[in-house]
Amino acid sequence: MKILNIVGARPNFIKIAPIMREMKKSKILEPVLVHTGQHYDIEMSSKFFEELNIPEPDISLEVGSDTHARQVAKIMERFDAVCDEHKPDAILVVGDVNSTMACSLVAAKKGIKIIHVEAGIRSFDRTMPEEINRLVTDSIADLLLPPSKDAVENLLREGHTMEKIRMVGNIMIDTLMESQPKIRMSEILQTLGIEEKKFVAVTLHRPSNVDDPTDFKRILLAFTEIQKRLPIVFPVHPRTRKMLETPELKEIAAGMSNLILCDPLGYFDFGKLVKDCRMVITDSGGIQEESTVYGIPCITIRENTERPITIWEGTNELAGTDTEKIIDYAGRILDGKWKAGKIPELWDGHTAERIIPCIENMK
Ligand code: UD1
Ligand code: UDP
Repeated sequence: MKILNIVGARPNFIKIAPIMREMKKSKILEPVLVHTGQHYDIEMSSKFFEELNIPEPDISLEVGSDTHARQVAKIMERFDAVCDEHKPDAILVVGDVNSTMACSLVAAKKGIKIIHVEAGIRSFDRTMPEEINRLVTDSIADLLLPPSKDAVENLLREGHTMEKIRMVGNIMIDTLMESQPKIRMSEILQTLGIEEKKFVAVTLHRPSNVDDPTDFKRILLAFTEIQKRLPIVFPVHPRTRKMLETPELKEIAAGMSNLILCDPLGYFDFGKLVKDCRMVITDSGGIQEESTVYGIPCITIRENTERPITIWEGTNELAGTDTEKIIDYAGRILDGKWKAGKIPELWDGHTAERIIPCIENMK
C-alpha cells in the first residue's frame, strides 16, 4: 500500500516522526513523505527533520505563506498533480492545519482513501481556522484515529460509526517519550541563565490572541506582573514576532526586565523548558498536551480548547485573555494551589505502533 504522508507545519513534523519510523518497518506499507511548505523557516521546519530523524521529504510543494484561501488553493493544485503522478492507495494527514484539510480535499475528490490521525477533537468554536479544518477533514476521512475518549464521542455524535474509528492514543506523546534522553541533555537552561522550576515557559501564536494588538496587550500586561515573581521565557512564533514589532507592544515587552524573548526553539530545548519550568502559559494545542504529560501546571490563554481532557484529567486550565485572571491563576500555581493531574489513557508512547495495523487492515 502506497501511503502519502502529509506534513506542512511545526506540530505536523513532531507527529509524523514516529509514524514514518513505524511505517518503514511494515512489510505492507510504502510511505512517501510530502511537505507542503506551509512552514519553511529553519527553526519552524528543517530543524525538526534533523532532530527527530525524519527522512528528507520525497516531495516538497513549497507553497509558503499566504491568505488561507490562497494557501489552501496552492496546496490543492500542487498536491493534485502529485496524486496523479504517484497514484497512492491512501493519504495520511495529521492534526488540523491548512495542509491537513487541503490535501484531504484533493484525495476525496480523487477517490483516494484518507487516514486522519488526531481525528475528532473539537473546540466547538468555528471562528478558529483549525476547527473548520478538523470538521472538513473528519467528514471526508475513511479511517479516523482519535487521541482520546472525548474525540471518539464527538465523532459518534456527528454520525460516524465505530467501523471507521480506532482510538489509538496521542501521537505527540510518542515523540515526547522517545526524546527523553535528548531532552534531558539539553543545555538550554544554562544558555538562558535560568534555573529548574524557577521560570515560566510561554508560547503564543493563535490569531485570536496575537493578531489584534488590544488582545495581545491584555496578555502582555499579565506577563508584566508575573515576571516580577519569576523570569518568563518566551520563544516567539513568526506570526507573533510581527506583532511584537509594533511600537506599543514592543515598548511593553521592553519594559519587562525579566522577560526573555528568543527565536522558536528546537524540540529538545523546548521540551526541556516545558519539563523543567514552574508553569506553562500557552495557546498551543500540543503544549497543553505535553504539559499534562509532564505534570506541569498549564494556563491556556483561550476561551475554549479542543483538548478538554487536559483540563478534566491533566494540569490545564483556561484563563482566556483576561489580565487579572491570568495573574490570579499564575499566583495560585506559585502558591502551590494547583491540581496534580494524571496522564490520559493511551498517551503512552505507543500510538504509532497501534496506528500501523489499523492502516494495514483498512478496508
Ligand atoms: C499554523 C496553523 C496552526 C498551528 C500553527 C503551528 C493553520 C490555519 N494554522 O499557524 O493551526 O497551530 O501553524 O505553529 O494551518 N511564517 C514565517 N515562517 C514560517 C511560517 C510562517 O515567517 O516558517 C509567518 C508568515 O508571516 C505567515 C505567518 O507566520 O503569514 C503565519 O503562518 P501560517 O502557517 O499561515 O499560520 P500559523 O500561525 O503558523
Ligand atoms: N515547540 C517547539 N519549539 C518551540 C515551540 C513549540 O519545538 O519554540 C513544539 C512543542 O513542544 C510542540 C509543538 O511544537 O510539540 C507545538 O506546536 P505549535 O504550538 O506550533 O502548534 P499547535 O500544537 O498549537 O498546533
